[in-house]
Amino acid sequence: MPEFKQGTVIVTGGSRGIGASISVELARVGLHVACLSRSGELPPDSGLDVEAQKRLTGLRCDINDAASVESAFAAVAARFGLPVIGLVNNAGIHLQGPSATFPIVDFDRVMQTNASSVLRASQVAYPFLREAGSALIVNIGSFYDKLGVRGNVAYCASKAAVGAISRCLAVEWARDGIQVVNIAPGYIETDLNRDEMNEGALQAFLKRRIPTGGPARSEDIGRLAAMLFQLPGRFLTGETIYVDGGQGMAL
Ligand SMILES: NC(=O)c1ccc[n+]([C@@H]2O[C@H](COP(=O)([O-])OP(=O)(O)OC[C@H]3O[C@@H](n4cnc5c(N)ncnc54)[C@H](OP(=O)(O)O)[C@@H]3O)[C@@H](O)[C@H]2O)c1
Repeated sequence: MPEFKQGTVIVTGGSRGIGASISVELARVGLHVACLSRSGELPPDSGLDVEAQKRLTGLRCDINDAASVESAFAAVAARFGLPVIGLVNNAGIHLQGPSATFPIVDFDRVMQTNASSVLRASQVAYPFLREAGSALIVNIGSFYDKLGVRGNVAYCASKAAVGAISRCLAVEWARDGIQVVNIAPGYIETDLNRDEMNEGALQAFLKRRIPTGGPARSEDIGRLAAMLFQLPGRFLTGETIYVDGGQGMAL
């Protein structure tokens, strides 16, 4: 018997970017993965072998719509016929603007999508995870959670809330066999931002500013998430793991 958890993992925002890489890496280590997004698309160009590719399923779901989350999670539990042993709360948005004039409606939208949705999805997943007996929630926060970043009041606040939600759920649900870990990435190159990150002023700034010499790739976050699902033991919980090349602690 393998030591690590076996079953189905639900990944929000699993259609592209970091969520797609997490989904692919989870499927690579043998887990079945429900990739939730509004489009319902599968991760592009997974590079997986045929058997691992079959473990990926795309499902439509809007994480801001309670009914949509409830029906998607129920469908996953019914369709796969496997215990739901994990949830990755990855879907998120980024809106920016000066704090003095940042519209409250936009602040609320970021908080809803990045933070309230994490609690909602975790609540809906809770009965399934508890039933599995041993389960893991991975939240995708950001190293902005501990920084004061100009023009990022909503995003920073939302990611600080993700860290706090992770700690509270970890403490409340530990006796149910549910671990909660918050991965807080720094600058990550994804399909969407690759061109921007690899040219001109931003590339030069990031090379200078990040101690390891530049951004990471979404696969790096995917592999860390997959490692957490394979980690024996339950003692790692409630913690935020910063994956930022040392940027958040560097002067
Ligand atoms: N990229 C970075 O440098 C970086 C750094 C730190 C933290 N992060 C965090 O990592 C996570 C993923 O970021 P990313 O850069 O990979 O983003 P991305 O490329 O924009 O992908 C976002 C994913 O979330 C889905 N999504 C967005 N709104 C949704 C909703 N209401 N309901 C369901 N799915 C929704 C999108 O699919 P649909 O549009 O089809 O719904 C897509 O699959 C976010 O939480 C972000 O804050 C990113």
